[in-house]
Amino acid sequence: MKKQITEKESLPISTLSSSLILERIIDAFFALDENFRFIYLNDQAGRIFMRSKEELMNKSIWTVYPDSTNTIIYEELHKSLQNKEPVHFEHHGCRTGKWYEVKAYPSESGLSVFFIDITEKKLIEKELFKLEALNIIGEISASISHEIRNPLTTIKGFLQLLQGREPKNNEYYRIMIDEINRANSIITEFLSLAGTKTASVSSTNINSIIDLMSPLIEADALSTDKEIEFLKGDIPNLLLNEHEIRQLILNLALNGLEAMPAGGKLTIQTFSEENEIILSFKDQGTGISPEILDRIWVPFFTTKDKGTGLGLAVCYKIVDRHKGRIETITCSTGTTFLVRFKNNH
Ligand SMILES: Nc1ncnc2c1ncn2[C@@H]1O[C@H](COP(=O)(O)OP(=O)(O)OP(=O)(O)O)[C@@H](O)[C@H]1O
Ligand SMILES: [Mg+2]
Repeated sequence: MKKQITEKESLPISTLSSSLILERIIDAFFALDENFRFIYLNDQAGRIFMRSKEELMNKSIWTVYPDSTNTIIYEELHKSLQNKEPVHFEHHGCRTGKWYEVKAYPSESGLSVFFIDITEKKLIEKELFKLEALNIIGEISASISHEIRNPLTTIKGFLQLLQGREPKNNEYYRIMIDEINRANSIITEFLSLAGTKTASVSSTNINSIIDLMSPLIEADALSTDKEIEFLKGDIPNLLLNEHEIRQLILNLALNGLEAMPAGGKLTIQTFSEENEIILSFKDQGTGISPEILDRIWVPFFTTKDKGTGLGLAVCYKIVDRHKGRIETITCSTGTTFLVRFKNNH
């Protein structure tokens, strides 16, 4: 009898202390009942879900976030509850743009779930992977490109000679010369992956480079029935290599336009945020699936029939040479590439 009282009395204290402990941990923790309704959340979990704890309590996670029903979370949490086995997986939060390591432990009456923020770790891993791939390519590209360019120049020279002698085959020669020019421009782009230093920089405003490029981008948008919006903020000059930034703007703008069906709008924006100057490209495409998100930076990776897959690799190198970084936020409603430059002036 005495023992029972002690247990009963000690229960609120132990519940209190365990919830205090759960509040203190920096990882998000929440508990769901067998119908996936929230029965407990710590503060960090509230922040991740961007709702107050009161709003979430007793509601099913799938009714609060209907768009998560075809995600890995839906699949894995159901699996854990059904098989009564813990699950462990990685999840990319579309709203927050963060990566989480998720661990879920089942019990008779539901699930205990931990969300551990691994965004920083993922970023470092990804950066190392990208740099390593680009460095290897940079090393071999210079020599191979040279070896390919020389014979191409010879072939092009003879083709031009024959073109003059055989006017009736003019069209065939024109196509062959065009193709050689295309191969040469790929090699030039490929070569720009080598080297870690920007050739020359000068004090330039990104807005004026956008002004210079806008007729070209607008013409492309118009020809495919898409819209471009320029939102140029008040930003200071930066030390930039204008030629490279022009290429960066063109590559990211074309990717945004190519990602959208007719009628879509691409927003190109510049703004300052703390000590950074940001150049952003926001499209209304269908987003980049998590399976290919890590590979889009790899040279020659393309999902397009006529793509070379060098656009983003070149952008990555250009931004790296300017000591900036590129952030990608992608959802089924579109993708935003944010190029962040340090205010280096
Ligand atoms: N804004 C975007 N929306 C959706 N997918 C994108 C976007 N930007 C890039 N991608 C994906 O990344 C891949 C690689 O892009 P990248 O610019 O390197 O090459 P590409 O556009 O295919 O060819 P290239 O730029 O050489 O003509 C694309 O094929 C596409 O699958
Ligand atoms: Mg491209």
